[in-house]
Parts: sequence; structure tokens; C-alpha cells
Amino acid sequence: MTIESCTYVIFGATGNLARLKLMPGFYHLEMENKLQEGTRIVAIGRRPWDRAKWLSEVRGMLEEKFGDKLDENVFTRFSERLFYHRGNLDDEQCYQELAVSLNDEAAQFPKNMAFYLAIGPDDFGNVIESLSKVALLSEEYGWRRVVIEKPFGYDLESAQALQRRIERYLSEEQIYRIDHYLGKGMVQNVLVFRFANIMLEPLWNRNYIDHIQITHAEDMGISTRGGYYDTAGAMRDMLQSHLLQLLTLVAMEPPVSMDAEALRDEKVKVLKSIRPIPKSAVHAHAFRGQYAKGTIKGQKVNSYLEEDNIPADSTTETYAAMKLMIDNWRWRGVPFYLRTGKRMAAGQSSISICFRHPPLQFFQGTHVSCMNPNWVILGIQPEECIRIEMIVKDAGLEMRTHTASLDTDFRQPNQRHVDAYEDLLLDVIQGDRSLFLRFDEVEAAWKIVDPILQTWATERDYIHTYPAGSWGPPESSRLFEKEDQFWRSSLMPECAP
Ligand code: BG6
Repeated sequence: MTIESCTYVIFGATGNLARLKLMPGFYHLEMENKLQEGTRIVAIGRRPWDRAKWLSEVRGMLEEKFGDKLDENVFTRFSERLFYHRGNLDDEQCYQELAVSLNDEAAQFPKNMAFYLAIGPDDFGNVIESLSKVALLSEEYGWRRVVIEKPFGYDLESAQALQRRIERYLSEEQIYRIDHYLGKGMVQNVLVFRFANIMLEPLWNRNYIDHIQITHAEDMGISTRGGYYDTAGAMRDMLQSHLLQLLTLVAMEPPVSMDAEALRDEKVKVLKSIRPIPKSAVHAHAFRGQYAKGTIKGQKVNSYLEEDNIPADSTTETYAAMKLMIDNWRWRGVPFYLRTGKRMAAGQSSISICFRHPPLQFFQGTHVSCMNPNWVILGIQPEECIRIEMIVKDAGLEMRTHTASLDTDFRQPNQRHVDAYEDLLLDVIQGDRSLFLRFDEVEAAWKIVDPILQTWATERDYIHTYPAGSWGPPESSRLFEKEDQFWRSSLMPECAP
């Protein structure tokens, strides 16, 4: 794929996402020589800054992230690309002036333009409409692409309304709905692991797999994001988007190619095959909880209700778990358990595949009475690894066994960690939409979680709590179908409690 020079315009450039992910991501692309000569990055911000002040801000962001590893030569090259445009998103003048600057022939901004909306979801529609009014979305002289952060809508209805609004100004090919989980190296490795190796494919179905778990746990709380988080909650913030995307990659049929549409077609089929959860069955399929006070890494931390901007009677969930059934030929009867939580015992994301028990007849009369099933664990972060757990015989005269783990790390310790955003920022320039969401995927994902959200919205009197620093409310185990199923929280071999 070709990398063309372009003008990358960042709305929300002074916010958290830009500071922690986007600017470091661009810096790394510079370091890897992935940005074409002439490419420029324009920050839009409300503050009365000039270019020099913006450069010093960016330097601060990068120093915060990389410390003394910041490479002066790379930074000098990088800073030549950076520009600042002062303006208020609600003000038409901001867009008129932006159009004048970007179209000024003497200023030499590349005519291919990507607009990254790292802003609150309520502003997506307005910004796109305003860009269109000043003809910045017209592709007459170069491509124009818009990157939309999540959440895309608040529920099915609002997502459809947003889609109807933006499709007046943009074609589907111009829209890049980002889910940064798809940019994570290990997540892409799920596809390689499944489709570049023939060994597991015959086993990857209801005949051999007992159940599948997808966990995203964070030890962090909600930090300064109380205003947003309290209206979202864990189900919207993580499950509807990132975790359902992981599920599609694990469960989908092999696409005909890595082409964007082929991949998205298969993902949508999975989402559409998920058995709808009627409101009457919400409690059998979903569980929510909220963190209470607790201890993380030896430090006492506040409860959710004590965080900034959280109403004292909030029942917003900081932990959500869900059981889903996929009614297709491959997965019928195999439960998929998904869970996510803030202020959990550790920051860790993984996909754990538990295989069925083999028949034990053969070992009768030996010390082998109960064997752990085989597990395949795909560690997404912090460890990026694949572990396959097998039963092996202990050394010695007796027939005793233990679980051994065949491990492979995705990244060598000396290899640089490539952040998801880096990859996705580049995909936008290359016009590769395979790791971005198509609207029917977003729609199908909302359809799955909407009945749960609607039920929870009416149940405002009580929410289970869990101590910060724990693995979430133990009551969430009620989602399991069988007694020997349990939340798998470690990458090390574990037995049923
Ligand atoms: C974001 C959520 O999309 O993903 C955050 O809004 C969450 O609440 C984050 O912390 C997790 O991403 P990562 O890449 O740190 O696992």
C-alpha cells in the first residue's frame, strides 16, 4: 500500500488521547520514517497558543512519555510538521479560517486530508457538518477521510441517528470508525494464529471447546474522566466495543482475504449470530458491579462514588460481565464469557480458550484422577503471548501428571512495543479500513447490549460492589453454565477453585 503525504488535522489535540496516544504515535511514525515528506499535522485547540507554544507542549507530552529516550534528531524533523490552529469547535469561524489556511497554495498543506475527531461523541455530528460547509470534505483535489473515536452513539437509536447525520456529508469509504483494540499487535495475531496454522482449526469449534473467556481488567480507576464515564459505564465503554470485537476475531469463519470488506463481512456474521438476550433473561446473561474502597499496589484507593464528578447515588457499573451464545454451526452450545473492570487486581487483557475434558477411562487405577482441561491463552497485554497448556507426566516411577505450558512470546524483550494507535494512524493514510468498523458492525453490537443497558437503566436502587484491587464481585460466577467453569485470571496454569 502506498503512503502518500497528507495533512492530518486533529480535533481535541490538547486532550488526553492526543497527549497519551496520538502525538506519541505520530512521533514513532516519524522515527520509523513512515511519514512522507510534506506530511503535516495540524492541531485544533481552543487555547490562545501560537506554533512555538504548541511545539513546547508537544515536547512536554513526548518527554512525559519517553523521558530521556526522546531522540532530538527525530523530534526536530517531527516538529517541522506540526502546526496549531486556534478555534472553538462550536464557532463557524474556526472552520472558515481552517479552510483558508489549508487551501492557501503558498502554505503547501497536502491536499489529501485526514480529520481525527478525538473529541466528545456529542460533537462528532457538528464538526463533520461544519467541515462539510467549508468544503473540506470534498474530494475534488485529494482524498478526505474522517476518523471517529468511540463511542459511536450511546445506544442503537443514537448510533443510527449519528450515522444518518454523517452520511449526508461523507461516503462510507471516507469514514474510519476506530476501535483501537484492533490495532493491538496481539489482537492481529489472533488472525494469524488461527488462519496461518492448520493444527488448531479442526479443534476450533463446539466439538472440542468447552467455553471461551475474554477478560479486560485494569487496575486504574476512572481518573479525571468521571463526567464521561458516569454516563457510559463499563458496558458501553469496553464491552460493546473492544470486547465484542475480540470475540468476533476469535469466533469468525476464515474470511476469503485480509481485504477490509471480507474481514468485516465475517465479523458481522458473528455478531448477527449471537443469540439476542431478551429483557427477561438479562440477569442470567449479564452482571454489573462497582468498585468500593480498596488497596492497589499497597496504596489505599477511593471508591467509585468518591471519585471526582460522580454523583453520590450513582449505580454506573465499573465492572460488567456477560455470557453470550453464538447460534451457528461452529459455536452452538459454547458459552462466551466476557468481563471487564476498573480497579481490578491487575491490569491484564487476555483471551482464554478452555477445551473439553478428555475421557479419563484410560487412567483408571493410577494417581491421575482429575486432570485440568487444555487451555489456549492469548495474552494481549501486558504480556503479548500465546500459551498452550497440556498435561504431561511428572518425572519418576509413578504415573502422576502436571500441567505444562508451551509458551511463545510475541515480542522479544528488546523489541519496541508498537502502540495500537500508531498502526491505525498509518492505516488511515494508506486508506486501509480493514481494522476500522463498518456501520453494520456497530449497529449489530448495540443490538446485543441494548436490552441489558435498558434493563440496568431501570434498576437504579442497587448495584453489587467489589473492593478495589480484587477480581470483581464473586457473584458474577453465577453466569457460568457448569460448576467447573471459573474466571481465569492468570496466565499461569490454574485449577478450578
Ligand atoms: C478506552 C476506554 O477505549 O480503552 C478506557 O475508554 C479504557 O476506559 C481503555 O481504559 C483501555 O485501553 P487499553 O489500550 O489501555 O487497554
